[in-house]
Amino acid sequence: MKEHARQARAENRIVGLVPTMGALHAGHLSLIEQARRECSPVIASIFVNPKQFGPNEDFAKYPRAFESDREKLQRAGVDSLFAPEPADIYPHGFSTYVNVDGLSDRLEGRSRPGHFRGVTTVVMKLLQIVQPNFAYFGRKDAQQSRLITQMARDLNLDTEIVVCPPVREPDGLALSSRNIYLNADERKAATVLYRALDAAKSELAAGVRDALQLQAVLHRTLGVERHARVDYAEIVDGESFESVVRVAKPTYILLAVFIGKTRLIDNLYMEPKSPDSEELVFHF
Ligand code: PAF
Repeated sequence: MKEHARQARAENRIVGLVPTMGALHAGHLSLIEQARRECSPVIASIFVNPKQFGPNEDFAKYPRAFESDREKLQRAGVDSLFAPEPADIYPHGFSTYVNVDGLSDRLEGRSRPGHFRGVTTVVMKLLQIVQPNFAYFGRKDAQQSRLITQMARDLNLDTEIVVCPPVREPDGLALSSRNIYLNADERKAATVLYRALDAAKSELAAGVRDALQLQAVLHRTLGVERHARVDYAEIVDGESFESVVRVAKPTYILLAVFIGKTRLIDNLYMEPKSPDSEELVFHF
């Protein structure tokens, strides 16, 4: 892959990388579409990264669908697929990790210790191997995208990190490879994440800016769904991911909720319409 990508760069082509863990859905395909609009060649990777799963997480049962993924990528017009084995990425004696301090410890990082160290380490390796001009990530994983952007800036990478909007089912559920774990009842219940974000959005649109008031709305909506157990429902600054008391600047509402045994995340991003406007623009 290093040789292949080096060749494309030597021909002055714009190389795009879409890193994935496979089990591809329309969210991944939207990243590929965006990459294809901006790059040629587009390289996709499939690697279920053991280092970003905790000991009690779903690494062993994480959905793997290599053949159908390969066909989907081919149909989507991807030029090359990089699908290394764990021993290629982490050979015996591997001992160097990348960690973004602070940001990695909050929210997802607090609930999933070591998760982000695994993510930033593998993404750094993929970026080193391919050295793409652009690399594409989904905003559904808002904290992950923010961390990777920070890592690229801190380590002076030549790759521009592009963050793309989530893709949703018609009923609002954000696409995720883990949705496959939900049974029929849980699948219905899972829309509660979107419903809670939408309820908070209505309050914001009506002028509410107080974070405690917004959190109460989130918990009220999530609380009535019997399959749902809230891990966190936080209102955070869009850059630092620290909790805010009032929504005034670019802000995320972040949710992590267990539906049955499946942990789902979702978010709503908002920013003032213009620097001194009270009006907010929302991005689901
Ligand atoms: O979002 C994912 O699928 C993974 O965390 C990533 C970025 C491919 C790293 O393994």
